Amino acid sequence: MQKIEMKDLVNLCQARGFVYQWSEIYGWLANSWDYGPYGSLLKENIKNLWIKEFVQKRDDMVLQDSAILMNSQVWVASGHVWGFSDPLIDDKNTKERFRADKLLEDLIESSSDKWEYLKTKYWVPNLIPESWDMQKQTEVMRWEQVLNPNTKKPWDWTDVKKFNLMYKTFQWVNEDTASTIYLRPETAQWIFVNFANVLRTSRRKLPFWVAQIGKAFRNEITPGNFIFRTREFEQMEIEYFCEPGTDLDIFEKWKENCKNFLVNVIWLDENNLRFRDHEKDELSHYSKATTDIEFMFPFGWGELQWIADRTDFDLKSHMTESKQDLTYFDPVNNKKFIPYVIEPSVWLTRLFLAVLTNAYTFDEQNERIYLKFEPRIAPIKVAVLPVVKKIWDLAKNIYKQLSEDFVCEYDEVWTIWKRYARMDEIWVPFCITIDSNNYENGDVTVRFRDDMSQQIVKISELNEFLKPYLK
Ligand code: GAP
Repeated sequence: MQKIEMKDLVNLCQARGFVYQWSEIYGWLANSWDYGPYGSLLKENIKNLWIKEFVQKRDDMVLQDSAILMNSQVWVASGHVWGFSDPLIDDKNTKERFRADKLLEDLIESSSDKWEYLKTKYWVPNLIPESWDMQKQTEVMRWEQVLNPNTKKPWDWTDVKKFNLMYKTFQWVNEDTASTIYLRPETAQWIFVNFANVLRTSRRKLPFWVAQIGKAFRNEITPGNFIFRTREFEQMEIEYFCEPGTDLDIFEKWKENCKNFLVNVIWLDENNLRFRDHEKDELSHYSKATTDIEFMFPFGWGELQWIADRTDFDLKSHMTESKQDLTYFDPVNNKKFIPYVIEPSVWLTRLFLAVLTNAYTFDEQNERIYLKFEPRIAPIKVAVLPVVKKIWDLAKNIYKQLSEDFVCEYDEVWTIWKRYARMDEIWVPFCITIDSNNYENGDVTVRFRDDMSQQIVKISELNEFLKPYLK
């Protein structure tokens, strides 16, 4: 089987209107991407399947949609103002900037016996450079003479320093510290901030959970790999509030729920997924247990989703900072406590990339590329293709009828074979062809994408005929 190259996927996405480079007519903005007509539909389908699975089909879940600009105190309480940073290092010669921890990870991966060597020589506590302090990272970068990965030339590194990833802006007319606010770097915090509101207005009992889909912004030092690491991205986060002591069982259950969603709802190939538990040294300051779900992207394994036991860290911090009571009263057992939280969150833009990678199929016999989407994920469900010009208007009526129920595309240009080929490339599950003869009988021909078989169907019954396949 042919290996997928990232550049081919990017080219296909740009050529077929899935993803465009941002501000293209102004010479582009590096590492920013826009979602084109098919990409926008595909993204909506993924979101809707997630909402259906985790909100609609459950009686213990509610959805919320919160603001992007938030009171700065939220980020003080969450720890982002002091702790949400990456280790930055500059090459003094070229003025290029890198994440020191990533360069050190590459150094570690380049040799199998680094553990004994680094432990003895530098007293490093583990092989996770992200967890080392800045001084230790500087020391190893310098003494190991790590090369600039772009120039491959000898190092001339600055000290490693912390770089806060939050985007700052100002409210009111003054650009001073008092009016500084931040674009949210994650959607999760608003769920904690709104905990008491949602609990009161939705009349829920524990355990219950809140889901949110939305944009997050991070001033990444080294974005890259197409839409995998960008400065603006979308998250689909869930915070599941539960009684302390029940958290680890719920955490385990969530691994299964997430796998089920990725394999049976989104149809990712199970062989391209793996679960990785965080080691103790690697856990975030608020987490008791974390598991990453990784996917085999064209560039290798990358994090797609995580499940974290965040304990009561967030609610406790917001209680301290806001001086508001965020405890929960359990009327059955007459108990008051601060709930624990399990966070099974997936990153929509990465899931989008995983779906595209999964769908990318090379037809060796015909040397063609297809994006083989599951019908429920496919951006376009039905294509309406009139065969002759004199029935264009009639075909448009059929398009109108079908678009009451499905996302359709109407195409009258070029030969029918070329139009089939265009639709096959993005795996439109059904093409409807209409010629003068069958239209006069009140019929159309339905072509099934998967086996290319054809069936005559009455126009009046067409929507009902297609519905079971596209449910
Ligand atoms: N609420 C938890 C949270 O946001 P995080 O580790 O800061 O945790 C979560 O980020 C995940 O979001 C990451 O593990 C990664 O999968 C994804 N992510 C982080 N930065 C990203 C970026 N710049 N572009 C796309 N996805 C990103």
